[in-house]
Amino acid sequence: MLTRDDVVNAFDLLLGTVPDEATIKFHLENAADKAELSKAIIVSREFMNRLHKISPVHMPDDAPLPATGRFEDFERLADGVEGWFTDMSAALFDCLLSAQFNWGVAGNALEIGVAYGRSAILPALHVRSTEQLRIIDFSEPTLNAAVKLLRPLTRGRLEAVRASSFDIRAGEAERGSIRFAHIDGDHSYPAILNDMAIVDDMLCEEGICVLDDFFSPQYCAITMAAGAFMAQRPDAFRLIITGYNKGYFCRPSMEKRYLTFIRDELPAQLRARRQTEFTFWRMMHPGQPGGFGLGTRQYGRDFITLNTDVSQPVAVEEIEF
Ligand SMILES: C[S@@+](CC[C@H](N)C(=O)[O-])C[C@H]1O[C@@H](n2cnc3c(N)ncnc32)[C@H](O)[C@@H]1O
Repeated sequence: MLTRDDVVNAFDLLLGTVPDEATIKFHLENAADKAELSKAIIVSREFMNRLHKISPVHMPDDAPLPATGRFEDFERLADGVEGWFTDMSAALFDCLLSAQFNWGVAGNALEIGVAYGRSAILPALHVRSTEQLRIIDFSEPTLNAAVKLLRPLTRGRLEAVRASSFDIRAGEAERGSIRFAHIDGDHSYPAILNDMAIVDDMLCEEGICVLDDFFSPQYCAITMAAGAFMAQRPDAFRLIITGYNKGYFCRPSMEKRYLTFIRDELPAQLRARRQTEFTFWRMMHPGQPGGFGLGTRQYGRDFITLNTDVSQPVAVEEIEF
């Protein structure tokens, strides 16, 4: 009889990755014993990729990718690409996009303010054959550079729009069409109201909207505008993570699911991507909004909550939403 630990240990040994919950469940249901489990992993595309070091960039459309393969590709592809996008943000993008993949969420990706394309690399690597990445920027030279970088990664499924986001409106057909949006263009108050409205009009029910420089002291207008937007459209977004210069929002109906993913899976997923400088803070009672604050490592803990006594072990499942 296979156990959860058997699956986790086999992935660690054979693939060097941490399987997500859906993958663990799949193997527990489909492999009778350790021998069958090892066989399933050894014949998988992930194992072959690891063996032959094939980059997902060169793989056929819709081929399943290793759990952390895209992050490794990001590290290689982003090397030398100018931008304002950290490895922690890249790991978070990859984890959230992968969670959507595992949950069967479909939809396009959107980035407003792409510059040289650094932060759009992961969305580009994640779009499937039925999806596309749309990048919007009003600067022609940087947009051209971004297209050169991103088009091969999306295998052609890239739409580059040279325009100011103030001139963009969501068409009827685009409503609910996006699963991952990153707002990183004009950092002014009116632009944030404008760009959040575009995303609200296009984001699907399971989608994620990332807002750059949220809670950055250098750009107070962004935080103020985001608060104003959420007051204007209270049913649009819920905050799930604030940290490393970005705010991550989902739809209200998905808040608990994403918060549970953060609590139960994200720390291991970040570590699998070699990110260890994190502690998630949740300083509110169940039912109160605000998600998790994310900062550098504190007290050697993955989570700190209102009830945390830092001298005592923490029971993560006690964090309630
Ligand atoms: C901070 S950079 C983007 C960085 C990029 N996302 C990254 O992490 O590598 C901001 C970009 O937004 C573009 N931009 C500024 N205002 C804009 C607007 N109103 N509409 C479209 N693009 C805009 C600029 O041309 C610039 O390339």
